[in-house]
Amino acid sequence: MRTHYCGQLRAEQVGQTVTLFGWVDRRRDHGGVIFIDLRDRTGIAQIVSDPERTPASYDTADALRNEYVVKVVGRVTKRPPESLNPRIPTGEVEIYADQIELLNAVRKQLPFQVSTAEPEPVREELRLKYRYLDLRRERMSQNLQLRHQVVKAIRRYLEDEQGFIEVETPMLTRSTPEGARDFLVPSRVNPGDFFALPQSPQLFKQLLMVSGFDRYYQIARCFRDEDLRADRQPEFTQLDMEMSFMTQDEIIELNEGLVCHIFKQVKGIELPRPFPRLTYADAMDRYGSDKPDTRYGLELVDVSDLVKDSGFKVFSGAVASGGIVKVLPIPGGNEAISNVRIKPGGDLFNEATAMGAKGLAYIRVRDNGEIDTIGAIKDNLSDEQKQELLSRTGAEAGHLLLFGAGDAPTVNKTLDRLRQVVARELNLIDPSKINLLWIVEFPMFEWNPDEKRLEALHHPFTAPMPEDQHDLKTARAQAYDLVFNGFEVGGGSRRIYQPEVQQQVFETIGLSSAEAYDKFGFLLEAFEYGTPPHGGIAYGLDRLVMLLAGEESIRDTIAFPKTQQARCLLTNAPSPVDVKQLKELHINSTHKPKSSAS
Ligand code: AMO
Repeated sequence: MRTHYCGQLRAEQVGQTVTLFGWVDRRRDHGGVIFIDLRDRTGIAQIVSDPERTPASYDTADALRNEYVVKVVGRVTKRPPESLNPRIPTGEVEIYADQIELLNAVRKQLPFQVSTAEPEPVREELRLKYRYLDLRRERMSQNLQLRHQVVKAIRRYLEDEQGFIEVETPMLTRSTPEGARDFLVPSRVNPGDFFALPQSPQLFKQLLMVSGFDRYYQIARCFRDEDLRADRQPEFTQLDMEMSFMTQDEIIELNEGLVCHIFKQVKGIELPRPFPRLTYADAMDRYGSDKPDTRYGLELVDVSDLVKDSGFKVFSGAVASGGIVKVLPIPGGNEAISNVRIKPGGDLFNEATAMGAKGLAYIRVRDNGEIDTIGAIKDNLSDEQKQELLSRTGAEAGHLLLFGAGDAPTVNKTLDRLRQVVARELNLIDPSKINLLWIVEFPMFEWNPDEKRLEALHHPFTAPMPEDQHDLKTARAQAYDLVFNGFEVGGGSRRIYQPEVQQQVFETIGLSSAEAYDKFGFLLEAFEYGTPPHGGIAYGLDRLVMLLAGEESIRDTIAFPKTQQARCLLTNAPSPVDVKQLKELHINSTHKPKSSAS
């Protein structure tokens, strides 16, 4: 039996005989004395074998190679002063191996060094192909253990302190209206019919409220066929919650308790409460984003009214056609950011145009306070207007002002992007800061220009704010997102529980009663049988763990993630299947592989 994990050994165990199991991280031969770094998921312990003190284990120790699996029985000894290793928690001790048993050898060339004692960069594709080896390494092992700690803290808090119960909802279901594409599963026994994998358990958790479960949660796997990014996977995990008989403030308060508990348990950090709240309108106005990173300033300033009558057509034209003009004021930007970068072809110009901007106007305030700008903006803004711009934006000597002009969504998207790029470049982000805030009062709907109709910003079951109910088109929702250092880690809402209001919402998004019944008839019917007022939230667990771990991609918080191309490099999924299988499923593929098409 194992008596200890490798990473647990300390000076207190000196003199004890211990039994360890693990992998050989490294083996070093120091003139006949063999040192083995033995690794398990808790860390590394140094094993020593030499012909004089431990003759019984010496031959086996000598034959060990990296990643061999061994059992070691030995005596914990204090290391001599010259070999103390303060970099590892077990660095005060070493284990003299009375016995080493080789449990299994490595039979193939390792694709990369598992040991990180002498770190070497390993390509992510290789890490993903040999993920089981990558997961042996400290970083990924720590991340998965942190993830486990987070889930454990969640369960303890919700179950033991708040009376939540976990209920599993189906994986094979009808599609839920979260807005991404569904992953479909053909039904063999119902020819021509398909299940959808859940984009979230939204409808089921609402039904559980109708059933009286009152406080539900689930660590729920969700599936969305959408464009992948560093913080998006086709298959991801939510902490999903739903509660009855609670106001928005009560839901938010309970969730702050939960988040504080997680931080305290896994990081030992006491977060200040309550978390700040920002309305959607203020967030868009000040940051151009509904998930602003508030660890740094660089707040945007709307100057539409000031420039609407200026001779500079880019500005006045934008306002005249219903758009806006906003400024990103950058202290020190005059020195740090050259014209080449802002002009066509420059990196900041490219960032702006990638977000839909047509160009990037700017004003510099030289160190002597002189205002410097070029082109049409120079000739078409009066001196008073320029001065007023400076005072509105708080610009002083050394500032650079970047302008966005056009329709509001494009201007906000552009300046939000530039704000983030500039903050990173000018080192304005303090990585030790933890800024959690709620965004509230989202609009119920946003305009979908492609489909030329309003669509639900959150989902069509979100309740309007009572004071806005008279005009749903412009109503604000009882919806809330939790933002953590610029990432949306969670989002939820109070739900509609009166059929009349639900009906109005469907009408507003252009869904006829017949269509609504066809899609969600089962939910609408359930709502006729006594539905409690309810609301909920879902957190992106992978994202939350990513931020807690200080990682930049959720792939590093998921044991077996997909690549950016939505592939699993380990199993090589997705893969072609037998024609026979397709036939059984009543499926005929229209895909023509490239080789046969040519
Ligand atoms: P929403 O769609 O906002 O809400 O999702 C909740 C949270 O899930 C995370 N998330 C993702 N994480 C990784 N990869 C993805 N592709 C992905 N998509 C979303 C985000 C997000 O904040 N049913 C509602 C919740 C509710 O109203 O209760 C829902 O799913 O962190």
